[in-house]
Amino acid sequence: MLHLHFKADADPSNILDTDALEIFQFEWGIYQTLVQSNSMNHREIADLLRELIDTHFDRPFTFIDLACGDSSLAHTVLEGSQVARYEGLDLSRPALQCGAEIMKEVPYEVDLDEEDMVAGIARRPESADMIWCGFSIHHLRTDQKQEMLASIRQALKPGGIFVCVEPVNAAGETRADYTGRWHHELKKRFAVLSDEEFDHIWDHIRTHDFPETPETWVEMGEKAGFSKSRQVFRMPGDLF
Ligand SMILES: C[S@@+](CC[C@H](N)C(=O)[O-])C[C@H]1O[C@@H](n2cnc3c(N)ncnc32)[C@H](O)[C@@H]1O
Repeated sequence: MLHLHFKADADPSNILDTDALEIFQFEWGIYQTLVQSNSMNHREIADLLRELIDTHFDRPFTFIDLACGDSSLAHTVLEGSQVARYEGLDLSRPALQCGAEIMKEVPYEVDLDEEDMVAGIARRPESADMIWCGFSIHHLRTDQKQEMLASIRQALKPGGIFVCVEPVNAAGETRADYTGRWHHELKKRFAVLSDEEFDHIWDHIRTHDFPETPETWVEMGEKAGFSKSRQVFRMPGDLF
């Protein structure tokens, strides 16, 4: 069964023909190009998540996907697993609508919620065996990331696991240092994009991305109360 929850204050008739939808389609189109060309290693990430699921959950489990986008990664990863319930949270209504289409025939319970992941996860104590967040926590400042990790820890059931993938910087790098390095690296890595598409995504990265070093992520995990916190994969090229 699939439930799609939109914010109560939004007008459902506005869903399909607003400026927001146009922006979404342009940006989501760029993101889809990157996903389909594996420019952000989604295939390796899917394999890693599946390996973790197979290792940890030989019984029915619940899975929360923070900033789920169109849920396509989870759809692939959860196929044939013992997942009983999938919950995806995202602020983008059009993304959730795509997710509803992608998830419409899966044999497990699906909830898609138009909700801020920071507030949303704080409202779900002990509600999931596995929590996943892809490329989205780095928009928060360091203290907000720490709070978010603590909420995620609280939202896990005993024995649960949390996995995220995020951009990282090097120790001692200033924002100017890493944006300089990233521009060069990403231009090569995202060669599949047109100049206009790259400029658009670069503008987003330059303004909204606040990476941490891998060591800081591990420390923040420990501070948030996880019994183990570790880096499981580093993408080629030193960015993620
Ligand atoms: C880069 S995409 C990542 C999509 C997917 N997680 C993946 O790994 O491919 C970022 C997603 O985060 C969502 N997002 C950004 N900030 C959010 C927030 N505070 N709460 C919920 N969703 C958020 C956006 O709407 C978008 O769908």
